[in-house]
Amino acid sequence: MSMKTDTAIVLKTQEFVKLKLANAEGGHDWFHTLRVYNNALRISKTEQVNLFVVELAALLHDIADSKFYNGDDTVGPKIAREFLFSLNVDSLIIEHVIRIIENISFNKSIDNSTLFVSEELKVVQDADRLDAMGAIGIARAFNYGGYKNRAIHNPDIRPNLDMSRAEYKASTAPTINHFYEKLLLLKNQMNTRTGKLLAEGRHAFMESYLKQFYSEWQGKS
Ligand code: ADP
Ligand code: NI
Repeated sequence: MSMKTDTAIVLKTQEFVKLKLANAEGGHDWFHTLRVYNNALRISKTEQVNLFVVELAALLHDIADSKFYNGDDTVGPKIAREFLFSLNVDSLIIEHVIRIIENISFNKSIDNSTLFVSEELKVVQDADRLDAMGAIGIARAFNYGGYKNRAIHNPDIRPNLDMSRAEYKASTAPTINHFYEKLLLLKNQMNTRTGKLLAEGRHAFMESYLKQFYSEWQGKS
């Protein structure tokens, strides 16, 4: 049995994810994963975590997002488990990484269906949430909306602030609504000190973006 170092395993995982996400939607591609990975490393500096678990979970968290698999949220964990098993990663580490992938999603927090929590999950979740905010978050939201042929904005369709998890997953609302249904809620859901700090600036940017958006929409600026 080959004994790979943690660094070698992380590098192999990066290669694997890069290949796997070669044709992914622009907001959920390898560069999203890389930003989440970098955010996670940064946040980890002020947290007590197993860095190896954080790195693997950040790299594998969107390997097969259920949004792109007809809502099936078992595909990602399965691919991740088989991949890590093939590299002889310790089984306790594998199980922890899988738990993180299974529980990281925003839609899990909607009806409190999150059954697992760990410091490592908190770090990767904050890293992923940060990438849904600010200038990058705005770009990703509109890219996803375009990918799904959604309207940019429709003043006749109000945001729905108490959707069930199923309703959230099935929503076809305009992309501006997604700001109120998710993006602007993230700031108060951050888990870590560094996450909270970085979220402040990104949140403020989204608010000023929306202000300008409505001003232009109404022909006022
Ligand atoms: P979920 O919100 O289901 O947990 P993700 O966190 O993976 O899914 O969503 C990642 C990103 O995909 C969001 O931050 C956003 O940029 C984009 N996205 C998801 N759903 C929508 C939507 N309804 N409208 C616009 N963008 C969306
Ligand atoms: Ni993600």
